[in-house]
Amino acid sequence: MSNFNQPNFPVRRLRRLRRSTAIRDMFRETSLNKADLIYPLFIVEGENFKKEISSMPGQYQMSVDNILIECAELVSLGIKSVLLFGIPLEKDEVGSGAYAEDGIIQRATREIKRTFPGLVVITDVCLCEYTSHGHCGIVEDGYVQNDATLELLAAEAVSHARAGADIIAPSDMMDGRVAAIRKALDEDGFTETPIMAYSAKFSSAFYGPFREAAESAPQFGDRKTYQMDFGNSDEAMREIALDIQEGADIVMVKPALSYLDLIRRTKDTFNMPIAAYNVSGEYSMVKAAAANGWLDGEKVMMEILTSIKRAGADVIITYFAKDAARIL
Ligand code: PBG
Repeated sequence: MSNFNQPNFPVRRLRRLRRSTAIRDMFRETSLNKADLIYPLFIVEGENFKKEISSMPGQYQMSVDNILIECAELVSLGIKSVLLFGIPLEKDEVGSGAYAEDGIIQRATREIKRTFPGLVVITDVCLCEYTSHGHCGIVEDGYVQNDATLELLAAEAVSHARAGADIIAPSDMMDGRVAAIRKALDEDGFTETPIMAYSAKFSSAFYGPFREAAESAPQFGDRKTYQMDFGNSDEAMREIALDIQEGADIVMVKPALSYLDLIRRTKDTFNMPIAAYNVSGEYSMVKAAAANGWLDGEKVMMEILTSIKRAGADVIITYFAKDAARIL
């Protein structure tokens, strides 16, 4: 990538290709497309329910009927994919609602696919929204049990696939879950259902607003024994390598903005499709600052989303999807 063979200033002037909007547009290296955007939805039981999430202006918890209205809008905006999170009426120790045939996600997925067959439905596979203790796995002696959790995650993934999910996205960070889910999907005949693994998922304070949205805050302790330490980059590469070996079709880095170096390192290290999750806190910070008139929310949004793509992401899960699609 060196320019040593090329003439230097004053023959070389990089400003020449910045002179007009048209020229800048022609030579822009990274462009954002509507097809890159995945929009998260928070789905609750009941009917005619729509409540704004106070820490995420413009984002709502919705019952299935309102989710269908929302999906119609997404389709009309040109958004191709949604990521579903469910909030069950009742929670228990083993997160039964996560793998119930008539669970909230299972019902929502069936309804969405029936009404909008072309919309790509991705389902988040995790237990934290469904467990009374709010952890992403089975808890014994105050510790999240890895291997016992795998069976439940596999059952959850299969129930989502049976309901019609197009892509399965495990976000729990248990060891071996991609292999367990792949095996279970294959045994149930879903050999063609891709897995988008939350591979390098960090224990992050940027998830704060999401936990209000999904009502999934841990009731004791934190997620540090399963989610990654934010100081680690080599370990992230090991997590990603393992998920690829276990059968992940798409690997994810999450959050995105404080982890752009990892998106780039993943791109350079593995020849794999990459998803980045522009998480709740990253959204709320921009909305809060814009509401105060401290920065231009739309411009900052486009700069952030473009930076995530420039770092190497193929797709971006983002609460900005609708706002961005209106501009694109
Ligand atoms: C579930 C899950 C979380 C997010 C996505 N899936 C929360 C967590 O791990 O605590 C965070 C998404 C966001 O902040 O937007 N495990």
